[in-house]
Amino acid sequence: MIKVGIIGAGSMGSGIAQVAAQAGHEVVLFDTNTEQLDKAKAKLAKIMARLVEKGKIDRVTADGIEKRVHYSNSMNGFAGAGLVIEAIIENLEIKKNVFKELEGIVEETCILASNTSSLSIASIAAACDHAHRVIGIHFFNPAPLMPLVEIIPAVQTDENITSAARRHHRLMGQSNGFNQRYARIHCKSSSATFLW
Ligand SMILES: NC(=O)c1ccc[n+]([C@@H]2O[C@H](COP(=O)([O-])OP(=O)(O)OC[C@H]3O[C@@H](n4cnc5c(N)ncnc54)[C@H](O)[C@@H]3O)[C@@H](O)[C@H]2O)c1
Repeated sequence: MIKVGIIGAGSMGSGIAQVAAQAGHEVVLFDTNTEQLDKAKAKLAKIMARLVEKGKIDRVTADGIEKRVHYSNSMNGFAGAGLVIEAIIENLEIKKNVFKELEGIVEETCILASNTSSLSIASIAAACDHAHRVIGIHFFNPAPLMPLVEIIPAVQTDENITSAARRHHRLMGQSNGFNQRYARIHCKSSSATFLW
């Protein structure tokens, strides 16, 4: 299990936090807006209560999932993370600034991923000193229910980072029985679909 950092506690960030915590990872969910953090916490509690009510999980499991998500209005909690997934506003300049700041906080081995739907991963990576560890990991909405995850390497992305990103998501999908995840790998010149 690793520490997973998530930037942005909106629709996507809160859902990705749930997926990672369900898989047993420690999660740090960061947002500059504390109201969004409060909303994300309340939303997770409501979802867990519903799953317990329906008999899908027991209360102890639900408590464990909720406790694994830590809410923060600073990125400093990302120190020691193995993977950080960015899910903020769809704006290239803002994302680039966030990635630059992130590099000053996490270790060199940490994978930096963006959940962007439309922006170029290569452009985001170009803002980083260590562009080889930047990758797109694109969840669909709502993340806890949608089985598809796209892994999108940029031209700068190291192949080992692509493999590691796939491995992390295989772990997320298989360790809890809630999801069976699929991934479409967009390679530089071709694309192929893999069942995890
Ligand atoms: N909503 C979807 O259906 C969907 C699906 C797949 C991918 N995406 C992508 O995921 C990303 C997030 O989308 P969303 O729908 O969750 O957005 P959202 O508006 O619901 O949430 C964005 C969150 O980011 C926070 N934020 C903004 N700037 C920030 C900063 N500099 N630092 C920290 N937090 C900041 C906001 O406070 C907000 O809570 C986008 O890149 C989007 O393209 C969205």
